[in-house]
Amino acid sequence: MNSQDEIHAAPRGIALKVRLTLWYGIALGVILAIFAGTLYMVLARGLKDQVDRSLEEAATVAVKALEERRVGPYVRFDDLVDEFPELAVLDKFFQIFSPTGTITIQSPNIRRRDIPLSRTALGAALAGRAVFESARFPQEPPIRLLSVPIQYEGTLTHILQIGTSLREVEEMLHHLLFTLLVIGPLALAVALGGGWFLAGRALRPVEAITEAARRIAAGDLTQRLSASQSSDEIGRLAGTFNEMIARLEGSFRQIQRFSADASHELRTPLTVMKGETELALRRPRSAEDYRLVLESSLEEIDRMTRIIDDLLFLSRADLGEIRMERRPVRLDVLVEDIQRQAAVLGQEQGIEVLITLVQPATVLGDELRLRELVLNLVENAVKYSGPGGRVEMALEEEESVARLTVTDHGIGIPAEAQSRIFDRFYRTDDARAHDPKGTGLGLAICKWIAEVHQGRIEVHSELGKGSRFTLILPLAVPAG
Ligand SMILES: Nc1ncnc2c1ncn2[C@@H]1O[C@H](COP(=O)(O)OP(=O)(O)O)[C@@H](O)[C@H]1O
Ligand SMILES: [Mg+2]
Repeated sequence: MNSQDEIHAAPRGIALKVRLTLWYGIALGVILAIFAGTLYMVLARGLKDQVDRSLEEAATVAVKALEERRVGPYVRFDDLVDEFPELAVLDKFFQIFSPTGTITIQSPNIRRRDIPLSRTALGAALAGRAVFESARFPQEPPIRLLSVPIQYEGTLTHILQIGTSLREVEEMLHHLLFTLLVIGPLALAVALGGGWFLAGRALRPVEAITEAARRIAAGDLTQRLSASQSSDEIGRLAGTFNEMIARLEGSFRQIQRFSADASHELRTPLTVMKGETELALRRPRSAEDYRLVLESSLEEIDRMTRIIDDLLFLSRADLGEIRMERRPVRLDVLVEDIQRQAAVLGQEQGIEVLITLVQPATVLGDELRLRELVLNLVENAVKYSGPGGRVEMALEEEESVARLTVTDHGIGIPAEAQSRIFDRFYRTDDARAHDPKGTGLGLAICKWIAEVHQGRIEVHSELGKGSRFTLILPLAVPAG
């Protein structure tokens, strides 16, 4: 695994469970704080508005009573106070000031005798405006005041001031604040506890997966996670994990089989050489006999060299070390070249190699590799044809691909083997009997070359009747 591919792990030390709970707690704390703050503000506002409205109502009644007692600019104040019993009941007091701001009359329910008229109130009254004020005296609940000017023919004669204590409002708000401050943290604590519990529950399957993964990592690739049945995130994780293990197991087995096959294929020629050499050394032989042994050894050495060359090519291909050209390649020219070459090869075995159809087609790629690919296919077709057989090559150009077919009428490939013939070292039993010299690596190389050219090879074959290999490559410039 590349270091870039490594999954970014959490900072060490802080478990996911703790972080989940913390995030949850912070989010909930913020929500609670916003909720409590809004509730407090809305309520405080509403209560104060209510007080102001009741002051206004009382002022209207009081102003009306004063107007009724008016004699010209003067007002008869005697027994005025008795007329407002509801003011006392409602915990409202009133004062009447002269336009200079001195107190003329006060209701008896006033608790403080010295609430003077503020400059603001006096100024507003002179300008003919009513004004609300809040006032606070040491050791006492705050009060709310409404000052209303009383005019006679455009001039200020009196200032009426209605006041009430804000004690109840203050007490209610204090109560609310206290409750919020106690209940908020309490709710947060309970929620954090619940969050901790839930995070633990949600993460338990992850721990189970970790445990199982550890067992699998310890060596047993046949193990699978059991949580993969459910379709939730954890189930999908386990499913993906299982697929990954299955692929790993597959490649692991492939590597094992590959090394076994490779050793076996290299061992066979060595065994032959060893047997023949030992036999030859058992007693003195003629020069001709030695020559025969050496010739046979050379054949085996050639075969081993071929296997090793092919293996080297494939492992370099696996490592991405094979350089590929990307140039226009005329496939029609290539097919004609190879046909000439293969015709010579086939002649020795009485096999005819011919072209049935060739259309011009150009692909992008590496000419040498493509030549190797097509030659491999044609060599196989010749090799696995009976004497007197016929191999046909055809090149057709379709919409966006070139389609090159190599057809023979030879031994054919059993259906169950058709998917495996591109595997390294895989050879059918018929093929082994027919040609003991093959390596089983040719088609693996063909497949690789086709794939780096964004192409593919298809095979259609019937046992005993023949095979058709089709190479499909994208055209350099699509036709039409
Ligand atoms: N034209 C063909 N006819 C029959 N079988 C074939 C043909 N081409 C390939 N095969 C089968 O596919 C196997 C793998 O082919 P290849 O990789 O070229 O190895 P080799 O040619 O060394 O046997 C062959 O051993 C044979 O079983
Ligand atoms: Mg071959």
